[in-house]
This record gives sequence, structure tokens and C-alpha cells, in this order.
Amino acid sequence: MIEPVNVFEFEAFARERIKANAWDYITGGAEDEITLRENRAAFERTFLRPRYLVDASQRDLSTNVLGTKIPFPLMLAPTAYQKFAHPEGECETARGAGALGIPMMLSTLATRTMEDVARAATSPLWYQLYMMKDKGVNEWLVRRAERNHFRAIVLTVDATFGANRERDRRNKLSFAQVHVENLLARTDDAPTAIIKAAHYEELAWKDDLTWRDVEWLRQKTKLPIVIKGLLTAEDAQLAFDHGAAAIVVSNHGGRQLDGAPASLDVLPEIADAVGARLEIYLDGGVRRGADILKAVALGARAVCIGRPYIWGLAADGARGVQRVIELLRDEFDTAMALTGKRSVSDLDKTMIWRRMN
Ligand code: FNR
Ligand code: LAC
Repeated sequence: MIEPVNVFEFEAFARERIKANAWDYITGGAEDEITLRENRAAFERTFLRPRYLVDASQRDLSTNVLGTKIPFPLMLAPTAYQKFAHPEGECETARGAGALGIPMMLSTLATRTMEDVARAATSPLWYQLYMMKDKGVNEWLVRRAERNHFRAIVLTVDATFGANRERDRRNKLSFAQVHVENLLARTDDAPTAIIKAAHYEELAWKDDLTWRDVEWLRQKTKLPIVIKGLLTAEDAQLAFDHGAAAIVVSNHGGRQLDGAPASLDVLPEIADAVGARLEIYLDGGVRRGADILKAVALGARAVCIGRPYIWGLAADGARGVQRVIELLRDEFDTAMALTGKRSVSDLDKTMIWRRMN
């Protein structure tokens, strides 16, 4: 295989290896895909103000998330059904992330068990929770995450209702061939609701999720709670009020509410409101190391990627995931050097330039 020189070239390789309907699922967004495009457009209209004649020849790219040092401000966002991209699925992703010490968030809709992923992982794992109506199921998932040394619970709140993804409707996409392993009775203590459901789609999704459920979760676990999928200062403030340790500013990669703004565009209002009290992460459209710089300068402690590492996974398994992360790290380092920054703590909004209109 020719060695891709950037993330977009991984996308092209991946496309050849993934079945057309799974490709549409991974790549697509909701309805007109306005939000999906806007995530990229926001990075493309945000520019950097370089400072020169400062010695940035020695650079430290590391930062901290929830008290853990990471090599640079990047994490892997949770993505469902990774066996669509590789037969080893999420275990292979964990190996790729582990090679560089990058945290990985594992989806409730993973196609490998938490136990298997925990065995494959050498970097921090966070568990992404989709709540079900049955509290016993939620508690069981959280206990398993704890038992397997996951270090945080990431509660995704922007997908309680299925979005209108027209590519998938047109393709009549079925998930019957991929098994959502963590929602099957794979442990002795599986709750009745799990034992009864032949397929996870028979489980009732918690479509009436509220802040009360965040309170419930907080009482059930000592792990830090990360709320994923917020786009306003008001909700970020409520996340703080309800004891979240961090939030992910995200529109679910343009896959849920079409018409939601780009995550990068709403980041400043959220950082102004809660930046001093909560850790803020951002995802959506990060494709270059300079994008990481822009997001961190505007108030994110770290960014997450979704599709890019799936491309790496499909193109070349764990090695592909590792290469995608390395490419972003090297680009981030280059952007730091070219803007005259020695460390992540030097990044702030004074280095951002945007056209007035
Ligand atoms: C996702 N995302 C997602 N989020 C989540 O909380 N749980 C999930 O199971 C999934 N599943 C999922 C599948 C696929 C194929 C994609 C592309 C995305 C959303 C994901 O965590 C993240 O918010 C976006 O992917 C970020 O945008 P980019 O990096 O893909 O542009
Ligand atoms: C998705 C859901 C599974 O984005 O989060 O496809």
C-alpha cells in the first residue's frame, strides 16, 4: 500500500475496502448534511496569527485530561459498529490508540465486548453510555466499565431520537449482521431485560433522558461523568451544575440535528461560560493538526476524532489507526512550530484570526 501522507488519503483507501452501504453509514450525516459540511467549513474559515522571533525549537505537545497526561490533545471519539471497518473491530482500534497512549472512548454500540477491548488496550479507556429505559441495564453496563478499569463514563445526550439519515434509508441499511456485543448476555450477571432481548434493537432506548438521569448516574458511579453532545452555554452550565467533570462540544459529526452549528463556532461561547470550571473537549471535522491548534486556542482542552480513525482502521487495522494519530500529531507539532508556540498552555484566542464578514 502507498503510505498516505494525510488523513484524507486514508479516507480514499478506506472507501475501497468498505462495503458501499456501510460506507454511506460511516461517512454520511443527517438530511442535507449541512452540519456535516459546516464542521469542516468552520475550521477552513478560521486562521492562525503566527508570532515570529520566538524560540519554539523545543516543543512539548502534552496535556492533561481528567488528571491523566496524554501525549497531545487528541482522543478517539466513540463510534458504533467498528466491525463494518475491520473484522477485529474495536480491539484493533484499541491497539492503534495504545501504540501512542491516546485515550479511546468505547461506544455502547461496540461490536467487541468491553472485556476484550480492555485486554487489547494499553491506553486509557472511557466508556460511552447510551441509556436504555431499563435502569438495570444501565447499571450493569456501568459496573462492567468499572470492573474493566474504564476511567470515565461519557453520556451521549444528542441521540435519544433517531435522526433522518437518508443515505441509510435509501440503502435499507440493516445492522442485523453486526452484533452489539455489550448488549448481549455475555456475563453471568446480565439483567433480565438483556436476557429477554434477542437483538439489542428490542431494548427500549431512553428517549426521555433528562438531567435527572445525569443525577442518577452520578449516584451510581464514582467515575467522572463526561456529557457528550452539547452545543450551548446554557447546557454547558447545567452540565456543571449537575456534577459533570467535562463536556464534549459536538453535533455528533453532523449525524443528528441537521442545522446545528459547527462545533468550532459555538466553542467560544461555551468556553467563556464554563471554561474555568469544566474540561471542554470538541469533536466534528478535525482532519488536520492545525485544527487541533485552532480548537485548543478557542478553549478546548483536547479534541476527538471519529471518522478519521475509522478510515485508518479500514485501510490498515491497528497500524492504520496508529498512522492517522501520528499524522495528526506531526501536523500539530508543525503548526505549533510555525505559529511560534512551545507548549499547549501557550495557545489562546489571541492567535485566532477570522474575517469580520
Ligand atoms: C459516531 N458517533 C457516535 N457517538 C456516540 O456518542 N456514540 C456512538 O456510538 C457513535 N457512533 C458513531 C458512528 C459513526 C460511524 C460515526 C462517524 C460517528 C459520533 C462520534 O462520536 C463523533 O461525535 C463524530 O464522529 C465526530 O465527528 P468526525 O470526527 O467524524 O467529523
Ligand atoms: C451513530 C450512532 C450510533 O452516529 O451514534 O450512528
